Amino acid sequence: MCGIVGYLGSKKAYPILVKGLKRLEYRGYDSAGVALLNGNGIEIYKKEGKVVQMESIVPAEDSLATLGIGHTRWATHGAPSDRNSHPHYSQSKRIAIIHNGIIENYASIKEGLSKRGYTFQSDTDTEVLVNLIEDILIHADVSLAEAVRVALNQVVGAYAIAVIEEGNPDQIVVAKKGSPLVIGVGEGEYFIASDATPFIEYTKQAVYLNEEEVALISLEKGLEIRTIANELKRPYVQELAIEIESIEKGGYDHFMLKEINEQPKSIFDTLRGRLLVNQGTIRLGSLDEYEQKFLTADRIIIVACGTSWHAGLVAEYLIEDLTRIPVEVEYASEFRYRNPIITEKDIVIAVSQSGETADTLSAIKLAKAKGATIFGICNVVGSSIAREAHVGAYTHAGPEIGVASTKAFTAQVTVFITMALSLGRKRGTISEQEFRRLILELDTLPKKVEETLKLDAQSKKIAAAYKDVPNCLFLGRGINFPVALEGALKLKEISYIHAEGYPAAEMKHGPIALIDEDMPTVVIATKTEHYEKVVSNIQEIKARDGKIIAIVNEGDVDVTRIADHVIEVPEVDERLSPLLTTIPLQLISYHIAVMRGCHVDQPRNLAKSVTVE
Ligand code: F6R
Repeated sequence: MCGIVGYLGSKKAYPILVKGLKRLEYRGYDSAGVALLNGNGIEIYKKEGKVVQMESIVPAEDSLATLGIGHTRWATHGAPSDRNSHPHYSQSKRIAIIHNGIIENYASIKEGLSKRGYTFQSDTDTEVLVNLIEDILIHADVSLAEAVRVALNQVVGAYAIAVIEEGNPDQIVVAKKGSPLVIGVGEGEYFIASDATPFIEYTKQAVYLNEEEVALISLEKGLEIRTIANELKRPYVQELAIEIESIEKGGYDHFMLKEINEQPKSIFDTLRGRLLVNQGTIRLGSLDEYEQKFLTADRIIIVACGTSWHAGLVAEYLIEDLTRIPVEVEYASEFRYRNPIITEKDIVIAVSQSGETADTLSAIKLAKAKGATIFGICNVVGSSIAREAHVGAYTHAGPEIGVASTKAFTAQVTVFITMALSLGRKRGTISEQEFRRLILELDTLPKKVEETLKLDAQSKKIAAAYKDVPNCLFLGRGINFPVALEGALKLKEISYIHAEGYPAAEMKHGPIALIDEDMPTVVIATKTEHYEKVVSNIQEIKARDGKIIAIVNEGDVDVTRIADHVIEVPEVDERLSPLLTTIPLQLISYHIAVMRGCHVDQPRNLAKSVTVE
């Protein structure tokens, strides 16, 4: 939540900040602002709305500054408005700050500052922090970096901050705890950002700050990193692998559509080097490393949020079926607050595209403290969850920029398929013959996803027929029940149509009361052991005049005869089927949202990386 950027060097900062903020808008987009340091001191320009609205208020002369910081916001403290937008000045306007995170004890700090004569122009916790830093700067007569360090020792909460000071055109001070921050190291210039996308065309050298670290970035002195306990740290510079093309739309109207279409590649990339068909095996280094733990685990607990939680539910079917290890899937936010029973024989798998989701991060910290082994499945390399986990496997989906998760979901499911197969084989809970059959089939999946994407035109037609409905149900059984949940989430989050996912057989226990001619139901009715039962569920809906959109296998007869619309996906083993059945649901939601004029890549009220609890 919230994106931050900064530049320090000899180029004009403003265009770099604006381009960077646009790339970070997926993190929040209710207001945006920049602070530029030039001869006259610090100038702040900020405005409610997207970055493009803020651009209209910045005068040309200020855009000459070579030092600046910028922010795109997802409101936590204080409603979206010009005055609550970042950056924030300190009272004297000597310093300015941008902040991603939440200062939990801001009220008590504010009270103390108010008693010392500080007044506040916004409702934000961030303005409290910048004034605390100024107070220390003035009264302790220390450098800006030292004042930031001392201030952060008084703060409870999460932050990625950047602070600049009037009269100091040579430096930016940054710090991180619980929110991401990366420093780009160029030739005679530095960049800071929430992720590396704002500076990838300028430098691939990056330093990821660790928790509770403060960095003084100075053109003269270079990079000096200390912990907030004042321990000096050596910066670890790493080479980034991201390419600029992967963060651009590449001819698609929206990132979401591009990312849906990238799934054959992202699944292939996630399997690459792991699925070794010629050698008849799956190699997952991390699983091999922790083999004993997995072989003797009492149970696996999967913690995640949103779409990643749905991938966890798919995994529950896969892992229990193929390995016979009991699996529990938990919303990270609920797990951490209910005093869960965790032992050293538990394996906790955290699933997260961003690797920064605060609830998931807190859940694994708790489980780690209780002795569990933590396995991370993340997409963003070097992210907080990836670093907090003992071990893990990356999904190689590439940057996912559309706020609605698509290719990350199928990549997560792909990792789980490889894990379940590999573990099942190691534990002897799946026969060698079955293992070989499944890996051969898994190898065909990228191609089958490509075929499934050809259903775009058909999905668009269905979207046109249902774009104005107020409600929609999604049904599935077995491993496709979580796919139904995911289909409903996609539709509601990008088109604002109310949608619910249910196990098909649950209909008769309540939701069937909703069925009439105005209520469409999307049913996943591919060939599985539940097929006949799903056909009966569809009959029950048809008997009440409900409309059916069914996802079936090629050549289907029974459902095709009774459904209003069918979409045929290639037939695969049921356990691999979520990789295909998900695709038309993504496409239908996408087209409905576009037809309704919704902002597909940046749906209202949402942000991609949820770093608040
Ligand atoms: C939905 C969506 C969210 C995320 C959730 C967890 O399309 O994107 O529900 O799945 O916020 O995010 P990560 O996976 O980054 O932990």
